[in-house]
Amino acid sequence: MKVLVTGELPAIAIRILQEAGLEVTAMAERSVMPAEDLIAICKQQDALLSGVHDIINASFLEKCRHLKVIALYSAGYDRVDVAAANKFNIPIGNTPVVLSDATADVAFLLILAVARKAFFLHKNIAKGQWKLPDPAQALGMELKHKTLGIFGLGNIGMELARRCKGAYAMDIIYHNRGHNKEAEDELGARRASFDELLQQSDILSVHAQLSDETANLFNADAFNKMKPGAIFINTSRGGVHNEDDLLAALRDRKIWGAGLDVTNPEPMRADNPLLDLPTVAVLPHIGSATVEAREGMAQVAAENIVAGLKGERLLYVVNPQVYGDER
Ligand code: DGY
Repeated sequence: MKVLVTGELPAIAIRILQEAGLEVTAMAERSVMPAEDLIAICKQQDALLSGVHDIINASFLEKCRHLKVIALYSAGYDRVDVAAANKFNIPIGNTPVVLSDATADVAFLLILAVARKAFFLHKNIAKGQWKLPDPAQALGMELKHKTLGIFGLGNIGMELARRCKGAYAMDIIYHNRGHNKEAEDELGARRASFDELLQQSDILSVHAQLSDETANLFNADAFNKMKPGAIFINTSRGGVHNEDDLLAALRDRKIWGAGLDVTNPEPMRADNPLLDLPTVAVLPHIGSATVEAREGMAQVAAENIVAGLKGERLLYVVNPQVYGDER
């Protein structure tokens, strides 16, 4: 059987696929190929391991409905039309869990960077502006006993909560559809309504998938309800926040700061005014960019392909409906 691998993945992915006896076509380009090219190649394949952000929309899925499995080299699956994948009965695999530590580290890093204006002060040094003491510019905030609010408390949010509880004895609140029993038992986390999350969080960190429900959710309305001293952190997808509203909220001091590993659009433009604000820290979507996480993601993605081609359940499946499970 044949599998197409797009993007540059750690070698372990190809090794697992070849050891399983699969014929691998590897397209190591870093960029997404035009839809018609991807469809033309996939017509000759049994499976797709999508290592770049190929758009897996309804039109692609309809034309490639023969694919037995599609494995994403990402935890996020906002680039997939899940309803269409269900319609054509194609299991979609993703790579959660293995990147939780790496992504939680980036969220934690952004919290500290914003709280101490670290990126802004670093940039000033590079511009020859080391002015000390400069109380107005350099004063940050401390984190001990603050309240961490998590929007979408899953594996990554849990790792961030552990870090914040351990390092700063933070109280943890979260907004999820259901209860997260593990977080409640282990960390004393408390489930909150969306408004309570906005009103009570000193640090509000987003860890939810981008979907119709979450797109643009952190907008002027939401920022207006937050504390003036709050820090907004997003390491999930840039589409969850409204960047113009975020800028206005920061300028009008509705909130104190923001740390973003994801922006809208990506890449962020070099002249984006957010980059000039002292209490903003931006990173170029590096949440899962560690050797360990990327190796883990490559392994899970390849194992998802192997399982799918054997007709077995994927290790991590985005659409368990294809197995008759309810979501
Ligand atoms: C993920 O796995 O979703 C990361 O954000 C990389 O896309």
